[in-house]
Amino acid sequence: MKDKVIVTGGCGYIGSHTVITLIHHNYEVVIIDDFSNSSPQILDRIERISGVRPHFEQVDLKSFEATQAVFKTHKDAKAVIHFAAHKAVAESIQNPLMYYQNNLFSLLNVLKAQQENSINHLIFSSSATVYGNPSKMPITEDAPTQRSSSPYGNTKKIAEEILEDFTNSQSEISVISLRYFNPIGAHASGQIGEFPSGIPNNLMPYITQTAAGIREKLMVFGNDYPTKDGTPIRDYIHVVDLAEAHLKALERLLDTSTTSPLEIFNVGTGNGFSVLEMIKAFEAVSGSPLNYEITDRRPGDVPEMFASTTLAKNVLKWEASRNLKDMIQSSWTWEQNLRSELK
Ligand code: UD1
Repeated sequence: MKDKVIVTGGCGYIGSHTVITLIHHNYEVVIIDDFSNSSPQILDRIERISGVRPHFEQVDLKSFEATQAVFKTHKDAKAVIHFAAHKAVAESIQNPLMYYQNNLFSLLNVLKAQQENSINHLIFSSSATVYGNPSKMPITEDAPTQRSSSPYGNTKKIAEEILEDFTNSQSEISVISLRYFNPIGAHASGQIGEFPSGIPNNLMPYITQTAAGIREKLMVFGNDYPTKDGTPIRDYIHVVDLAEAHLKALERLLDTSTTSPLEIFNVGTGNGFSVLEMIKAFEAVSGSPLNYEITDRRPGDVPEMFASTTLAKNVLKWEASRNLKDMIQSSWTWEQNLRSELK
């Protein structure tokens, strides 16, 4: 068994895939989750897929006392991967305080509890949303961050600023912040994947739910953007590739190979696909036409986002290996499995 790692939000979409990758690489995992957007069933599935049941602690990270207690119990952990956060953009606009409280208190409590228990490595879940509406493509990590159009996005930007101040103030804790582009796809087992509560905000689950007959049709938010077919372009990344980026970041921190106390990497493929291209690619995988309609733009959407992958390739020694078809096929398999289970 290698080192012990605390994974907050380890029952969530990206968290659960990362936990499986870590277990496959012999790390001892402690999941902290409050099940606010996941369920205890995920622990059974992780066990079924990986053959190991991770330690589990149900903790609300907004409470420092509770966070400190669990970190003290696991003070032999070498690192924390902090996924736990709310992530629904529309909900964050309706209820900004809930987002600032949850996403920022939890980060502050994790940092403080790490400090008190000398757990000196952290990987933070950031987002390409911190770039706002970038002026240059592909986006390099030194592009300026901008205020986001949503409180959710702003919690990620503020979190990175907190990490910058924190890592500048003392040298004990080193941090890698990973800026995710658009994670989609599911585990090859078909047993875990994205499970949005209510109506999905994001494109891929909306597509698969429409194809599964849960939504009547996909609304394509605008086709008058300055892009090749008028619909916005994004850098979709397979969630298992993303999980592997966390493994690389963890190894880099544990080997003390980092060259600064806060390192930031884009996690994308470097390829951009438009909404219409995504629909076409989905139709090719599912073999059926998708019901969709072009409608008005969604406020806050930017025309084009795709990552420069150079830094991740050269420094983190990571690059995505799964293609768009793998992403879409696994998302579709997962959706179909989920529906037959829920019947
Ligand atoms: C969104 C969030 C971003 C967050 C990310 C991951 C916004 C403005 N941005 O990114 O802050 O980090 O999710 O959760 O919400 N689309 C449709 N119809 C749909 C859904 C989406 O046409 O029903 C289009 C969107 O206009 C966009 C593309 O599909 O062009 C991707 O959308 P989405 O999956 O929501 O991701 P982002 O907007 O890139």
